[in-house]
Amino acid sequence: MIREAIVTTRSLEGEPHIAPMGATVIEGGYVLQPFRPSRTLENLAATRIAVVNFTDDVRIFASCVVGRRYNVDVKKATYIDCPRLADALSHDEVTVERAEDDPQRPKFFCKTYHSEGHTRFEGMNRAKAAVLEAAVLVSRLGLLPDEKVAQEMAYLAIAVEKTAGPEELEAWGWVLDAVAEHRSRRAS
Ligand SMILES: Cc1cc2nc3c(=O)[nH]c(=O)nc-3n(C[C@H](O)[C@H](O)[C@H](O)COP(=O)(O)O)c2cc1C
Repeated sequence: MIREAIVTTRSLEGEPHIAPMGATVIEGGYVLQPFRPSRTLENLAATRIAVVNFTDDVRIFASCVVGRRYNVDVKKATYIDCPRLADALSHDEVTVERAEDDPQRPKFFCKTYHSEGHTRFEGMNRAKAAVLEAAVLVSRLGLLPDEKVAQEMAYLAIAVEKTAGPEELEAWGWVLDAVAEHRSRRAS
């Protein structure tokens, strides 16, 4: 199973970095697979620590892939010298046990060193899931035909219209802007 998480890392100099990343669940931890080039990859290779944060604030996922400035608070993790999301529902502090290099997508096998729950999970929501899917589409805009993106966005819009709250609507707006900008760049 792959859990969609916000992975927080830091550079050797201590600069925090946050990125949405699929965390494949394995016995005792996760496999993280950043595509090259990636700041997360550089940080994982240099420090061999990360935090896998679980959040249902889809604005964090969307803002990272659309490159929009959105203020996300981080604080030091409990046991490892790494940032974590201050408002995560829960987080896992991980250490890299081994890495498998690859020209496109290396694998980092991570062991969970410490897990912490912070706040209640309020339940599933279709608009959150739709924004997450749309954020994945945005991260692949350069690889996908415009027609496919338009079809998928039209389908995802149904769940957003029916079930979104203000946070999801805000994130959905960013995603729509990113798709429109990409289309006009491609056209010119
Ligand atoms: C839900 C979701 C899951 C993602 N999973 C991955 C992933 O597993 N690997 C990856 O390289 N990028 C993934 N991305 C895209 C990255 O977050 C994005 O490309 C980011 O810029 C990674 O580069 P960075 O490490 O330099 O920030 C995902 C995006 C979303 C919205």
